[in-house]
Amino acid sequence: MQQHQYDVLVIGSGAAGLTAALNLPSQTQIAVLSKSDLLAGSTYCAQGGIAVALNSNDSIDNHLNDTLKAGAGLCHEQTAHFTVNHSHESIQWLIQQGVPFSKNKDEAQDSLHLTWEGGHSHRRIAHVADITGRAIATTLINNATQKNNIDLFENLIAIDLITMRKLGIKGNRCLGAYVLNQENHSIDVFKARFVILATGGASKVYLYTSNQDGASGDGIAMAWRAGCRISNMEFNQFHPTCLYHPQAKSFLISEAVRGEGGRLLLPDGNRFMPRFDDRGELAPRDIVARAMDHEMKRLGSDYLYLDISHRSSTFILDHFPNIHERCQQFGIDMTQEPIPVVPAAHYTCGGIIVNQAGQTDLHGLYAIGECSSTGLHGANRLASNSLLECIVFALSAAQNITQQLHKPADNPEIHRWDASQVTNSNEDIMISHNWEELRRVMWDYVGIVRTTKRLHRALHRIMLVQQEIHDFYSHYKISSDLIELRNLALVAELIIRSAMQRHESRGLHFTLDHPETLPVATDTILTPIE
Ligand code: FAD
Ligand code: SIN
Repeated sequence: MQQHQYDVLVIGSGAAGLTAALNLPSQTQIAVLSKSDLLAGSTYCAQGGIAVALNSNDSIDNHLNDTLKAGAGLCHEQTAHFTVNHSHESIQWLIQQGVPFSKNKDEAQDSLHLTWEGGHSHRRIAHVADITGRAIATTLINNATQKNNIDLFENLIAIDLITMRKLGIKGNRCLGAYVLNQENHSIDVFKARFVILATGGASKVYLYTSNQDGASGDGIAMAWRAGCRISNMEFNQFHPTCLYHPQAKSFLISEAVRGEGGRLLLPDGNRFMPRFDDRGELAPRDIVARAMDHEMKRLGSDYLYLDISHRSSTFILDHFPNIHERCQQFGIDMTQEPIPVVPAAHYTCGGIIVNQAGQTDLHGLYAIGECSSTGLHGANRLASNSLLECIVFALSAAQNITQQLHKPADNPEIHRWDASQVTNSNEDIMISHNWEELRRVMWDYVGIVRTTKRLHRALHRIMLVQQEIHDFYSHYKISSDLIELRNLALVAELIIRSAMQRHESRGLHFTLDHPETLPVATDTILTPIE
C-alpha cells in the first residue's frame, strides 16, 4: 500500500476537475485521478457546445429565463443567476486556455459562431465544430500536464472517501480517499486537506445511454456513503437523438443538428413534433424525448429519423464533420438520407447537494460538474448548460479552497485498507449478470414514462441485486467492475426512491399515476441514515 499526501485531491479529470486544478495557486500540491485514461468521461464526448449569451440581440436575462423555463419551475433562481452571470468569464477562461472555438466566417475574425439547441430562444451555443468536448478536454489536459504542482494519475479508481467519522475520530471532515490502483491491484491512501469530487454522471444506470462505460455515479455513491445529502435523482435526462444501429454503441447525434434545421420524422417521412409543441424540434429535451417515446410506442417502431439532408453537403460537412464521419462508418450518409435515432439516458440532473462554492455537507469535501446538484438544472437541464456549470462551479470551488489553504491541517493517522478477510473471486459472473439486469430493470421500469407499480417492482429487484453485491463485496477482492456495480446499484436505488417521493409529473419525471404538475415545486432530498 502507498500513502500519498496532497493539499487537494481531485477525483475526475473532466472539464470540472481539470478547471478546478488549473485554478488553484501554483504552490498547491494537487493530485488529479482518472479511473481510466485522462480523456475518459463525458467531457471528451460533448458535441453541441457551451451556452453563453454573446449575440447582440441576446442577453444574460434571456439565458436565465430559458434556463428557468426548461427547468420546469424547480431551478434555484439564485444559482441560475450566479451561473449565467459568470458565463462570459467562463468562456473567456476557456479561450485563454487555448480552446479553438469556431468563428463566424463572414464577420469580424474574433466573433464566435453560435449554434442553436432546444429550449434556447436565441443562437447561444459556442462550439468547436461538433467536437467541443474533445477540444476542451485535450486543451485542459495539455495545460495541466505542464504544471509542476499537478500530478495526473490514470487507472486509479477511488473506492470510498476517508472521513473522521469512519475512522472513529471526533469531527466531521473528509481526509482523503481509498483508491484501487488497477495496474498493481494495491489499495492506496490519498490523504488531502481538500477533496473535490468531479466524477461525472450516472447515466450508465440505464441500458441505453449516450455515456461511456465509466458513468457509474461513483462520486454520488461515495458522497452518500460519507453522509452527504443527495437531491433530485429522479430527473435523469434522456437525449432524444442517439444513433440507432446495432453496432453503434452510445453515439450521440447533437441537438445542434436540429438547431441548424434538422427535422424529426416518422417512418412514413412525416414530421410529428409540431403536434406536441409549438417550438417543434427545438422544444426542450424532456418534451422531445417524451414525444418520440410516445410515437415509437404508438407505431411499434424501434427508432425514428432525424433528417438534415435538405441542407447543402458543404454546410453539413463544415458543421458536423465528426457526426458525418461516424454515420458514414455505419453506411449512413447524412447529406443524402435521414439518420435513424432513439432517445437514450444522457445526463444526471440531480446529485450531491452543494452550495455556490461547490461545498457539500462534509467539511473539506467539494462536488463539481455532473455529480453535483447545484440547483441550476431543476427538473430538466437546458442544453449546453452542463459544460458551463462545470466551469463556473470549478472556478468557484477553486477560489473557496484558495481562501482556506492558510489554515492549519488536521493530520490524523489513517489505517490501511483491510483486505485480510477476502479472497480471489471465482464468481465474476455475478458482476456481469447484475450489471446487465440492473440496467435493464432501470430502462424498463424507471424510464421516460413511469408508474408507481413499476417503481415498486424496480426497487424490489434492485434491493436483491444490492444484497448479492454486498455479499460479494464482503468476501472477495475488490475490482473496478465491482466498485462500479456497487455504486450503480446504490445510485439506482436513489433514483427510484426519489421518483417514488415525487407525486406529480414535472420536467423529466413523468408518471402516469400523477400526470399533473403540483402548484409548488419542491426538491426531492434524500438524507443518509447515520
Ligand atoms: P466527466 O467529464 O464525465 O469526467 C468524469 C471523470 O471522473 C473522468 O475522468 C473519470 O475517469 C473520473 N472518475 C469517475 N469515477 C471515478 C472514480 N471512482 N475514481 C477515479 N476517477 C473517477 N454538455 C454540454 O454542456 N454541452 C454539450 O455539448 C454536451 N454534449 C454531450 C455529449 C455527450 C455524448 C455526453 C455523454 C454528454 C454531453 N454533455 C454536454 C454533458 C457534459 O459533457 C457532461 O455533463 C460534462 O462533461 C461532465 O463533466 P465532468 O467533469 O463533471 O465529468
Ligand atoms: C448535444 O450536442 O446535443 C448535447 C448537448 C448537451 O447535452 O448539452
